[in-house]
Amino acid sequence: MSVRIGSLELEHPVLNGSGTFDAIAARQVFGDALLERFPFAAFVSKTITLEPRAGNPPPRLWETPSGMINSIGLPNKGLEGFLAHDLPQLAELPVPLIVSVMATSRDDFARLVGAVSEREEVAALELNVSCPNVKSGLIVGAEPAETRALCEALRPLTDKPLIVKLTPNVADPAPVARAAEEGGADAVSLINTLRATALDPRTGEPWLGAGSGGLSGAAVKPVALDQVRRVRAAVSLPIIGMGGIESGADALDFLRCGATAVAVGTANFRDPLAGERVRAELEALSEPARSLDLK
Ligand SMILES: Cc1cc2nc3c(=O)[nH]c(=O)nc-3n(C[C@H](O)[C@H](O)[C@H](O)COP(=O)(O)O)c2cc1C
Repeated sequence: MSVRIGSLELEHPVLNGSGTFDAIAARQVFGDALLERFPFAAFVSKTITLEPRAGNPPPRLWETPSGMINSIGLPNKGLEGFLAHDLPQLAELPVPLIVSVMATSRDDFARLVGAVSEREEVAALELNVSCPNVKSGLIVGAEPAETRALCEALRPLTDKPLIVKLTPNVADPAPVARAAEEGGADAVSLINTLRATALDPRTGEPWLGAGSGGLSGAAVKPVALDQVRRVRAAVSLPIIGMGGIESGADALDFLRCGATAVAVGTANFRDPLAGERVRAELEALSEPARSLDLK
């Protein structure tokens, strides 16, 4: 069941999606039992930014059939707060730590990557590129040239694996994935949430405080599988596939579409041990799959 993401060796292929599992809160609730039964092979932090962010105005969640829309808006303590308060606690987890970072300029990305990657507690970095570049106004992860230039700028700053988290809000994610590979990324992860809106039935106005948000959960899985297949055909990098994974069978679908590893996101909110169950089910399914040569 072990997998390799760049230089990162993982015991099994199940991670968490950034922002969907609060390991610090879970440790407070479950105590050391969480460390003895940690559900993921590596822990991906919530995305951090250079400066603290309060996030979007409420309401921030809307439940849909088989999914949810969130407009959380990346609330976080900022780089200094993360390094001082969160990193020491996340470093106690029994698995490698992947820190997710996002910025609106190459310089700010460089400051984040430089400061985070010099901490030995950090095993790898994930670049959340679903954000505009303030200089060009373009969403970095929607533009192959922007993605490639960002990766080329950040690559010399760290020897640690750089994972580019792709946005699904593009006509085709393959050219962006190829650009990440050419720019020196070690892996890509996908999908992030799909842009979505819900209306307040009483007023007919957008329900979410931010107007729109991102759809996740079982509803997005077919989109995610399609995008993973397209990206697999375009790059030879390891792929971390996610989007609506709730079971080992879901995870196996992603591996069959070319993912190297998978991440569990929205399912964690209903069941904090969803990751453990997905891994166990995947392991049970993988045996017959291997002997039938279906993998
Ligand atoms: C409440 C919530 C918060 C999220 N926060 C982040 C985040 O901080 N950074 C990020 O890259 N993705 C974030 N995501 C996206 C997930 O990591 C994942 O890519 C997406 O939800 C698809 O997987 P899922 O359908 O299993 O949830 C968030 C998703 C949800 C539902």
